[in-house]
Amino acid sequence: MPSKIFGVNLGSWLVLESWMLPQGWLDMGGESCDVCSECIATEWAFGKAKGQAAQNAAFQAHWNSWFSQTDVNTLKSLGINTVRIPLGFWLVEQLVDRRTEFYPEGGLVALIRGVNQLREAGIVVILDHHALPGVQDANQMFTGNCTSEPQFYTEANYLRALTWAGVMTTISHLHPAFSSVFAIEAVNEPIMDAAQTPNYGTYQENFVTVMRGTELALGINVPGLPNPPPPSRNATQSIINISNLNNARFNADVRTALRNAAQIIQEIATNPSTSFDLTKSARGQSLLISNFMDVNWQNDNPPNPANAALGPQGYDNHLYYVFGGVADPNPDAYMTSICNLNRVQADAALGNSPLWFGEWGLPTQFDATDAFLQGWADAQKLAYSKGAGWIFWNFKVEQSTLAGNLSREWSYIEGVNLGYLTKDPSKVFNASVCDPFITSD
Ligand SMILES: *[C@@H]1O[C@H](CO)[C@@H](O)[C@H](O)[C@H]1NC(C)=O
Ligand SMILES: *[C@@H]1O[C@H](CO)[C@@H](O)[C@H](O)[C@H]1NC(C)=O
Ligand SMILES: *[C@@H]1O[C@H](CO)[C@@H](O)[C@H](O)[C@H]1NC(C)=O
Ligand SMILES: *[C@@H]1O[C@H](CO)[C@@H](O)[C@H](O)[C@H]1NC(C)=O
Ligand SMILES: *[C@@H]1O[C@H](CO)[C@@H](O)[C@H](O)[C@H]1NC(C)=O
Repeated sequence: MPSKIFGVNLGSWLVLESWMLPQGWLDMGGESCDVCSECIATEWAFGKAKGQAAQNAAFQAHWNSWFSQTDVNTLKSLGINTVRIPLGFWLVEQLVDRRTEFYPEGGLVALIRGVNQLREAGIVVILDHHALPGVQDANQMFTGNCTSEPQFYTEANYLRALTWAGVMTTISHLHPAFSSVFAIEAVNEPIMDAAQTPNYGTYQENFVTVMRGTELALGINVPGLPNPPPPSRNATQSIINISNLNNARFNADVRTALRNAAQIIQEIATNPSTSFDLTKSARGQSLLISNFMDVNWQNDNPPNPANAALGPQGYDNHLYYVFGGVADPNPDAYMTSICNLNRVQADAALGNSPLWFGEWGLPTQFDATDAFLQGWADAQKLAYSKGAGWIFWNFKVEQSTLAGNLSREWSYIEGVNLGYLTKDPSKVFNASVCDPFITSD
């Protein structure tokens, strides 16, 4: 992990959100509508309408064009040191129920290509489980399927997400392209109301245990667990063996997830397009960082994710003013709010440290001037850098007639071009930008 994260999200790459590429989505064969469940606005609706083969072809083309070596070079030249990659559960194809879940195939091959290019550029990676089995949020394109009835918070879907964690942890350690991965995020933006997310706290604990159990099986020391088993030439069997570990954290869901993951890993590692060497161990590698949305994300009797930690853990906060509820919709109120933000300190007091701001952007609820956007960018970067750093949403969005001004406030690369964001991400234009707004208390 960099000493300070200066990052961007690779949004709309492997989880496509059609609002970010309105013309490109129509060109692929998608549709646009006000209520996103009522037309072909998501990956799920696209696959349902077009069938698997057509969906695979359209998304393959999208993955190749939306994020390419040119983008890696641009991000490198702008000093970006970290990317967060939103991923769907369907990336692990064995987890998909094709009778009701219509998602493209082939995403893992694209991810391998991308993380390898990032590795060569020296940019490190957070794998972000962004779109969960069963859907974790109502009517959001970022879940892959717009539905009013999220079904993630059930034992069966938690189990699929835990299996995903075991698979991605193994690949991160054993596939050479993934050596730039330093963290895996459990769930992007779960429902905030804990009353609607039964057993989510247990899920968080299990997620960490699956990661650590996998790492132990691969030969890495985990504080709080017994020593790793002797080196083996079969990672799959090692994981199966570890699933039987006698330890209070290894409950039935953890054991099942580890065994299911072992089976899938065997298939992925022996598939020529995704292959890696299961006879190697990960001895000598560092533990990955387990990553959760921070404690204040769940606002109703929260299960503190710090309680789930076993080994290194990081926390993610997303702050968007444009959706309301943060500050009054005017420039002074925005600046007063951001310049007095105390989230880093408040989270640290509850054990949620290091904290990074894994999503933010420049959009506002009012017409912002160029001068305002420059100060607004500076002020946000200064606030978020009091923690572990920041990850802008998004690295880019479409630039087209249909997209209008979308890129002005949502695209990092365009924000630099327009002079809102500094060319060196560790700098700001004006370090005193907050001075007039800091209140005495
Ligand atoms: C996907 O969303 C549709 C509504 O758009 C809903 O009927 C369906 O149950 C959802 N399916 C899954 C698997 O999430
Ligand atoms: C490794 O173990 C798994 C699970 O027992 C087994 O299916 C696989 O064939 C083994 N691989 C080798 C190369 O022996
Ligand atoms: C798994 O456990 C069995 C029984 O303890 C042991 O004989 C075998 O060597 C272990 N395999 C691996 C790959 O760790
Ligand atoms: C785009 O932004 C510019 C600068 O604020 C503004 O003048 C223009 O009206 C905007 N265009 C649209 C289509 O919103
Ligand atoms: C930086 O911002 C402060 C506060 O708004 C302002 O007083 C100062 O003039 C700005 N400095 C520059 C170089 O623009």
